[in-house]
Amino acid sequence: MLQGRRIVVGVTGGIAAYKAVEVCRRLVDAGAHVVPVMTAGAERFLGRTTLSALCSEPVQTSLWNEVSPIPHTRLGQSADLVLVVPATARLLGAYAAGLSTDLLTNTLLATRAPVVVCPAMHTEMWEHPAVQHNMQVLRSRGVHVVEPDEGRLAGGDIGAGRLATPDRIVAVVEQLLGPHDMAGLRVVVTAGGTREPIDAVRVIANRSSGKQGYAIAAEALGRGADVTIVSTVELPVPIGAVVRSVETAAEMQAAMNELAPTADVVVMAAAVADFRPVDRAQGKLKKAAGPPQIVLEATPDILAALGAAKPAGQVLVGFAAETSDLVANAEAKLRRKNLDLIVANDVSAPGVGFQHDTNAVTLLCAGGDATTIELSDKRQVARAVLDSVCVIRNSPRGASPS
Ligand code: C5P
Repeated sequence: MLQGRRIVVGVTGGIAAYKAVEVCRRLVDAGAHVVPVMTAGAERFLGRTTLSALCSEPVQTSLWNEVSPIPHTRLGQSADLVLVVPATARLLGAYAAGLSTDLLTNTLLATRAPVVVCPAMHTEMWEHPAVQHNMQVLRSRGVHVVEPDEGRLAGGDIGAGRLATPDRIVAVVEQLLGPHDMAGLRVVVTAGGTREPIDAVRVIANRSSGKQGYAIAAEALGRGADVTIVSTVELPVPIGAVVRSVETAAEMQAAMNELAPTADVVVMAAAVADFRPVDRAQGKLKKAAGPPQIVLEATPDILAALGAAKPAGQVLVGFAAETSDLVANAEAKLRRKNLDLIVANDVSAPGVGFQHDTNAVTLLCAGGDATTIELSDKRQVARAVLDSVCVIRNSPRGASPS
């Protein structure tokens, strides 16, 4: 998502400086070229070597003693985005006042790229009128602020001022820099496995973790879409997504009947049970009564129904988790359910599908195109899925007719 984008990450001298390491790592993973700059204060909290090792270039710290005699404005001029994480009260004050005292403040004043600051400090400092005034000044100039969280601070105090999580920070960067090829599109993604009750405590479930669905949601948000996740699981909600919690196939179908008709893109990443108990026993079945006879019935095929009622122009994506004849089975489903794209994975292969952080898939389009994605992070798979969705939307024939 951030392929080829140049991000200067400024690290200032707060105890949260160590968290900048994780942010940089994630930006590099997303394809960004990350240029780290540390202030003198940051060096008291974090070793240069750690940050240099994880970024795309060695750390720079000074206006004066770096080997190449680059002008002090070059970093800011060449950046696609400048991110300050954490941003101390001193840095925010200097930036608001237009003071240029070190390489980072020079960079901030010399850039016309978007700037994101992630304040982190003790509650008393964060709430001080001088700091709040500086924040107001910076916001009014268009600086993006990733507001601090409330939580435990250094020294054991609890309050506002804790650095936002790497998830939130990276999501803001992705929303600013990612390709906006899905801007304004309404995307509905289902995620997780359904649970069909047997009695008051037992369910028929499956091994789906919901990670692939959530990765698709995060990727769509980064590309500018409005995203709703219809979810059976509790995973960290990607910033900006709306979550609709459901448990059974029937509940998921009710949610999809409501949401799908107005969606531009529907991705059924959920593992929906194919069968459910005909009757749900009242209370808990007693062990002493012996093994129960559980009679099953078919659940509604949500995706097939969505395919049958697909509005013109909607791109409908299904998943096919298979253990044999991957492509043949997936192709048959693609046609039977009137899909535009199917994501087929061989869930018997190591590291693939349910519960893993990685996946390996074959993408099959209604038009006949096939793309294979070797074992990669689920976020990368999500990127490939949405790349295909965008190709389908932009192709002359668009989504296949309903
Ligand atoms: O036919 P099969 O169940 O393998 O198809 C998988 C695809 O269909 C997935 O996208 C899944 O979300 C969807 N599905 C559904 N309703 C069902 C079963 C599967 O929407 N009852």
